[in-house]
Amino acid sequence: EIKGFTFDLDGVITDTAKFHEQAWHDLATSLNVPWSAELGRQLKGISRMDSLNMILAEGGHENDYTDDEKAAFAAQKNQHYVALIQALTPADILPGMTEFLAEIKREGYFASVASASKNAPTILKKLGIMADFVGIVDPATLSHGKPDPEIFTKAGEILKLQPTQIIGLEDASAGVQAIKGAGQTALGIGTAAKDAQPDIWFAETKEISLANIAKQMNA
Ligand code: BG6
Ligand code: MG
Repeated sequence: EIKGFTFDLDGVITDTAKFHEQAWHDLATSLNVPWSAELGRQLKGISRMDSLNMILAEGGHENDYTDDEKAAFAAQKNQHYVALIQALTPADILPGMTEFLAEIKREGYFASVASASKNAPTILKKLGIMADFVGIVDPATLSHGKPDPEIFTKAGEILKLQPTQIIGLEDASAGVQAIKGAGQTALGIGTAAKDAQPDIWFAETKEISLANIAKQMNA
């Protein structure tokens, strides 16, 4: 029986995925790395340093920069990203998610956040929904990023529930793989998530409700 939910943030609760993509695209261009929609999809859910390494590899630059130079590139991307998220307000919560968070609270489910982003607490405060979650996994404590299951396992421990009692929500292929690896039920949103064959799938957040989830679980 499902008793809780582990939420990815970027691309699930709010559309910050587009700001990450914009900031990485700009950095890639400045490093002469060609951008593609496919690269954009692959970077979803991936930690800051892993994302930079994937971009450098895409351009054949994996051995061209020192660790200090790479840290500077990552800081440059984050500065751009942080500037883009300053204007977020509760109006930037994706369609249906305010209602879904209210519905699960009303029905007695527990929720935690499994975001790879070090900016997650800032974003949750700006959206005004910090209090909807029992807790947030601190990505600085992780040994492995998504698709490793570690972050969802920790988000489940915060809920004090067994994996079989949890549904994880993700928009990224790497994230769906991580949820499945943690033994939780994977709910994927959008085309990038579909690649990893989630247990439950919705094209858009506005379709997510307890009733619509139940329909797919019993299908
Ligand atoms: C994930 C995003 O939530 O967080 C990725 O999907 C991002 O695109 C990752 O790279 C790390 O975020 P941050 O804010 O710590 O650089
Ligand atoms: Mg995401």
